[in-house]
Amino acid sequence: MELIFATYNPHKLSEIRNALGPSYTIQGLVDFNEKEIPETGSTLEANSLIKAEYVFNKYQKACFSDDTGLEVSVLNNEPGVFSARYAGTGNSIDNIDLLLANLIDQKDRKAQFKTIITYFDENGIKFVFEGIVHGEIVLEKEGIEGFGYDPIFQPNGFKETFAQMSLSQKNEISHRGIALKKLLAHLTSR
Ligand code: IMP
Repeated sequence: MELIFATYNPHKLSEIRNALGPSYTIQGLVDFNEKEIPETGSTLEANSLIKAEYVFNKYQKACFSDDTGLEVSVLNNEPGVFSARYAGTGNSIDNIDLLLANLIDQKDRKAQFKTIITYFDENGIKFVFEGIVHGEIVLEKEGIEGFGYDPIFQPNGFKETFAQMSLSQKNEISHRGIALKKLLAHLTSR
């Protein structure tokens, strides 16, 4: 089955290809020479919808998008929808450094990653899938795999951060992995 994934992020593309397996051909926005679609919504749900709707309206093909946020309890669930732009530079290391600075001396480091996937089937019918992984923000960066906040997020029940795990280990338990399993279950049940 062919699907368009409304992302420019090569890490996300390879995570999703790895999770969905060889029965699916996934194209990214880079395959269509598309520019990044502006995320102007104020929630993860709204941003996910904006991206999927844009691609479906333009290409009339089955497509999906994801929007993810890191929600830190003691920071009133920030950075949340602003996760990519938290430090204002668009740079992941700056985002991590700001988050660690905002949590300095803080004992409560509970956090969760939340992903919302919006899928449009080939007839334009919309389905929404959510994935959440609970964990905590560690004291300093650990690991070099993955992207974004992976070096400082340790999922509950593990001693490693996401950045110390292989791609398939992360996919097994991650927010996006969980939301994707729901998408996959939907696709295979049709
Ligand atoms: P997006 O809007 O879904 O691209 O995600 C917003 C931001 O959240 C990204 O720029 C990353 O900084 C962060 N993010 C999303 N997914 C992950 C992940 O799996 N690991 C670490 N950070 C992530």
